[in-house]
Amino acid sequence: MKQYNLGFLGFGNVGRALARLLLAKSGELREQYGVEWRVAGVASRRLGWLTSAAEAAAGFDASALLSDQFFKDTYSPSNSIGAWLQDARPDVVFETTSLNPETGQPAIDYLSAVLESGAHAITANKGVIVHGFRELDALARSTGKRLLFESTVLDSAPVFSLFRETLPAAKLRGFSGVFSSTTNVIIETMEAGRSFEEGLKTAQDLGVAETDPSHDVDGWDATVKVCALASVLMNIPLKPNEVVRQGIRELSPKKLQAARTAGAPFKLMARARLGSDGKLVATVRPEQVPASDPLGNVRGTSLAVHFELDMMPGLTITSHRPNLQSTAYGMLADFINAVRE
Ligand SMILES: NC(=O)c1ccc[n+]([C@@H]2O[C@H](COP(=O)([O-])OP(=O)(O)OC[C@H]3O[C@@H](n4cnc5c(N)ncnc54)[C@H](OP(=O)(O)O)[C@@H]3O)[C@@H](O)[C@H]2O)c1
Repeated sequence: MKQYNLGFLGFGNVGRALARLLLAKSGELREQYGVEWRVAGVASRRLGWLTSAAEAAAGFDASALLSDQFFKDTYSPSNSIGAWLQDARPDVVFETTSLNPETGQPAIDYLSAVLESGAHAITANKGVIVHGFRELDALARSTGKRLLFESTVLDSAPVFSLFRETLPAAKLRGFSGVFSSTTNVIIETMEAGRSFEEGLKTAQDLGVAETDPSHDVDGWDATVKVCALASVLMNIPLKPNEVVRQGIRELSPKKLQAARTAGAPFKLMARARLGSDGKLVATVRPEQVPASDPLGNVRGTSLAVHFELDMMPGLTITSHRPNLQSTAYGMLADFINAVRE
């Protein structure tokens, strides 16, 4: 049995769902994997950098942390990430701060500090992968720690570990995907004759919208996912400004209803493909998708990616109606994989 000190960097929808899941799965972690854990540090903009004293065996009371009974004044504040890492001494840090599609910061700097401190770094933040993958991956290798990020693209569906573990020597030529739950939900709400605002509210109530929902609506979220896949799976450091991007603001209920009636509803489609000149062409834009397309039946909050490989003409992975628990599960799986290898 080994006890791991955990740090939560960001404690919003995903961070809280992960804390709930760790509590629910603690018996299985202990019995099947010999893993015990305690929360040694929690940080967010509102909470600041909180630590339970490193020598306090119990750490934070994770249930209280999730309830109204949590009083931050009971815990010791640190004044920076460096001091927080030094005081909490985490073995694993879960990074779930808000998406910054333009630079991935400050999360990249946070995760550099995490890896340099000797902890594994697990993130749900795709901005980090797009703008910092090479640097952080090299740092993780040099420190002998893991940088894992399975929740960044299809919530929890194993995309990165699929290539890492099960598809040796296969070359990825291109992919297409439905990567945004929020735009799916908005489009389907408008197809049902309701407004854009009602669709956005539904996505926010489900906890799937980004902190700044314009990141979803204007296609940034899907664009960043395209870049993350290209960077990691194709080794092409594609940046968001190299993707032709168009969001869903121009779509009217009338246009959406007509497309649905014609059997080819609109979706915010993401595509990337290597041309014959070896250059990657990537787009994110609303497209009509017929039901015969591998992605034609991806509805609601479901997400999917279709890969074109030299060894296989088509491989589609669908995450059927993932929710916050699914995203949290991707991070939990990363945690187990990081500490058991
Ligand atoms: N929600 C999903 O379904 C989903 C799915 C896959 C991936 N993700 C990714 O997961 C991450 C978190 O999403 P979420 O839905 O949990 O967002 P959220 O509810 O808005 O939570 C973000 C958390 O990060 C904290 N934070 C933001 N900027 C910070 C900074 N500079 N320093 C320290 N803490 C900071 C926030 O603090 P305050 O609370 O004090 O503001 C909050 O606790 C995002 O990167 C998102 O792209 C989300």
